[in-house]
Amino acid sequence: MSALDDLLTCLRFASVSTDSKFNADTRACAEWLVSKLTGMGLTTTLHETPGHPVIVAKNKHLEGRRTVLLYGHYDVQPVEPLAEWLSPPFEPTIRDGRIYCRGATDNKGQLIAHVSGLAETLAEHGDLPVNLTLLFEGEEEIGSPNLKPFLQAHREELACDLVAISDTGMVAEGVGTFTYGLRGIACMEVKVHGPTIDLHSGIFGGAVANPATMAARLVGTLHDAEGRVLIPGFYDGVRDLQDWERTSWKDLGDGEAETLALTGAPALFGEAGYTERECRWARPTAEVNGIGGGYQGEGSKTVIPRESFFKLSFRLVPGQNPERILDLAEAYLRAQAPKSVRLEIKRGHTGSSYLMDPHSPYGLAAQRALQATFGGQIALIREGGSIPIVQAFKDVLGADTLLLGLALPDCQAHAPNENFPIANLEAGIRLNQALLRELAI
Ligand code: BES
Ligand code: ZN
Repeated sequence: MSALDDLLTCLRFASVSTDSKFNADTRACAEWLVSKLTGMGLTTTLHETPGHPVIVAKNKHLEGRRTVLLYGHYDVQPVEPLAEWLSPPFEPTIRDGRIYCRGATDNKGQLIAHVSGLAETLAEHGDLPVNLTLLFEGEEEIGSPNLKPFLQAHREELACDLVAISDTGMVAEGVGTFTYGLRGIACMEVKVHGPTIDLHSGIFGGAVANPATMAARLVGTLHDAEGRVLIPGFYDGVRDLQDWERTSWKDLGDGEAETLALTGAPALFGEAGYTERECRWARPTAEVNGIGGGYQGEGSKTVIPRESFFKLSFRLVPGQNPERILDLAEAYLRAQAPKSVRLEIKRGHTGSSYLMDPHSPYGLAAQRALQATFGGQIALIREGGSIPIVQAFKDVLGADTLLLGLALPDCQAHAPNENFPIANLEAGIRLNQALLRELAI
């Protein structure tokens, strides 16, 4: 099977981790990966967890070689809104050299690029130049709730010198990009309860608080007009950007124009004193990911809904602790809420931010591998997205993570028409081989 065939096969599994409707597809994807890795000669185990399975695969580990842990995720985000897909989300379709499918970039295309790189090397040489451990999970998109305990429980089996991941972006097509930092995340759901039943808004309106109005008011207390978060203590300990980062990010070109074009937003918005890239890669935020309550059907309905809700996620930077941020947010929202409503607050998943030195020996090895693959100058960036397990690799295994992304800025990850260029699949195969060569002792 060619790398492309393998990727198309992997993409046809609808491995949506958040929705139990897709549990059988998610498991089938894991089982397919196990058979693929076993067929390559790797010793492969499917580990059950309370959620989706974790896969561990290894070559024969030899004394005196470097041990590299390669991580990826086989789960994907939901496909909605379905009507906006130009081809069905789980039928990979090639148009203009790109594969369109949910998971094409995030993360199956990048994962299969590595698997294919390994398969080629193993077929040619019978072994790899390093001790390799593959760790693939099916819950990254829901915060890796079972991988963190798995890491603790299997810390000896997973011991390594460093971790490598391709699950981040490139600044532009063909530009090798090394990501040395990620934002962390902390999620929370808030229900605003009012009366015990929906009420006629004419009969009771004015005397009973409207939970939908109160949700809007509470959400409105989160930011000032420029987007700075108003939760007391939110910015405590936040580490400043270093001068070299600000300079080298400016050298990447006009980020504002690119972000305007990619997003279609009428204008950019953000904290004063920071460029658009600095806001996305190195500043913390509070985002409303969902808000609702009350009548959503056609026409009007004069009702006071008995409850409303909003869903928040905070993106965090070095110096912020996710659990502490949730404590501060909860205390702040409770203090802002009037007595006329009751808040029910559910904490969601968390993951720490990550920062490493791109000029460390392993950082330089990663840059050389990117250079060998893409040529030209290597962009050194941080990213705004999160991979919740990365800081846990540092805490539990003591290993730094090299983030060697293959996603293009217009890959539409998490959105309709997600896509991955076949050229990046091929580049990823070369990158895998260059990286292992660089890391071999
Ligand atoms: N691949 C992304 C993370 C990413 C995207 C990093 C772009 C850098 C640039 C990953 O699959 C992802 O989407 N993570 C989630 C994690 C969350 C659900 C816990 C995210 O960042 O929203
Ligand atoms: Zn993702």
